[in-house]
Amino acid sequence: MDAILVTGGAGFVGLNVTQALLARGAHVVVFGQEAVLPDPAPAIFAKLPGRLEVLQGDVRDADALAAVFAGRRIGAVLPFAAVTAGPQREAADPQFVLDVNLKGMVATLQAARDAGTVRRVVLPSSAAVYGESAYAFAELDEAATPPVPISLYGVTKYAVERAGLRLASLWGLDAVAARIGATFGPWERDTGLRDTLSLHLAIAQAARRGEAVVLPPAPLPAYDWIYVRDLAEGLLALLDAPAPPYRVVNLASGLDWAPHYAACLDVLARRFPGFRWRHAQPGEAPTIAWNESRPRGVMRIARAADFGWRPRHAPEAAMADYAGWLANGDEGLR
Ligand SMILES: NC(=O)c1ccc[n+]([C@@H]2O[C@H](COP(=O)([O-])OP(=O)(O)OC[C@H]3O[C@@H](n4cnc5c(N)ncnc54)[C@H](O)[C@@H]3O)[C@@H](O)[C@H]2O)c1
Repeated sequence: MDAILVTGGAGFVGLNVTQALLARGAHVVVFGQEAVLPDPAPAIFAKLPGRLEVLQGDVRDADALAAVFAGRRIGAVLPFAAVTAGPQREAADPQFVLDVNLKGMVATLQAARDAGTVRRVVLPSSAAVYGESAYAFAELDEAATPPVPISLYGVTKYAVERAGLRLASLWGLDAVAARIGATFGPWERDTGLRDTLSLHLAIAQAARRGEAVVLPPAPLPAYDWIYVRDLAEGLLALLDAPAPPYRVVNLASGLDWAPHYAACLDVLARRFPGFRWRHAQPGEAPTIAWNESRPRGVMRIARAADFGWRPRHAPEAAMADYAGWLANGDEGLR
């Protein structure tokens, strides 16, 4: 059985994809800055039927990547290693962001090309490629909505998508780019390389401590979240598609979550005694920073449906699943 390489596999999305792949018996090779997976992933993953290798290395290191391919036969690659830079890191170290996100992806594809065994690449693009368009369009469509990324991170994700698809076609690799919506759920933690963690993580941490949180004043701006377990299934659909009908695919819930927050937070409150929430009064500072102050368009997911995928969790069900994961003593948030 060919192995599946997940660079950044010890990160938030990577751990969820790795878990889903191991659950179906795959041989997964995780490559990233971490020498071991964070607790309790090793114990949980050991119970799954697949085979796991964890290799420490840097995607900017072509020799290290070549060694990964030399050591085993790899049939598919998810080059997910990235730095999700906030404004301060962008300003302080733009070269680092470009080197990891873009050049690291290209180096991974080069190693895949040289190996000659890779049948599918799933490229990690992002909702961030829509940038300014997210505020100008009610629906964000892969073909019709112009990508106008604002952040350097968004610029690198658009470059990952375009450069990755171009090089894959020149090199005989078969690539699909996933435009991943804002994600939350199990295994999210601070890797030191993602400057904006999801607000769900901040709320989850408060819930675990049994604290009260103050949200920004109502109404909250429109925002399209995706639960990470649904995202992992979507990524597997792109990995598996024998003849992808599209090369750029939104993976999102396709839903504005703003009207659902109250029900979601009530789910958490029922699970975690002491946790309470309310909106800030006029002039009062919220304790939870919201990702956006302006409403965003929602991502269309018709293309993803043509891959046979749709998100399984409605917002309240996603929060109930996440609350269960949080409550079961996982240490994934440490
Ligand atoms: N989380 C989201 O909401 C979201 C949304 C859209 C796209 N994405 C994409 O998904 C991918 C994973 O993001 P995440 O949210 O899991 O981030 P994360 O910070 O949790 O994980 C990133 C991983 O990349 C690894 N990494 C970073 N630099 C590296 C380097 N130079 N060499 C080797 N490994 C390195 C880290 O070790 C870490 O394991 C990224 O490509 C990101 O752009 C994430």
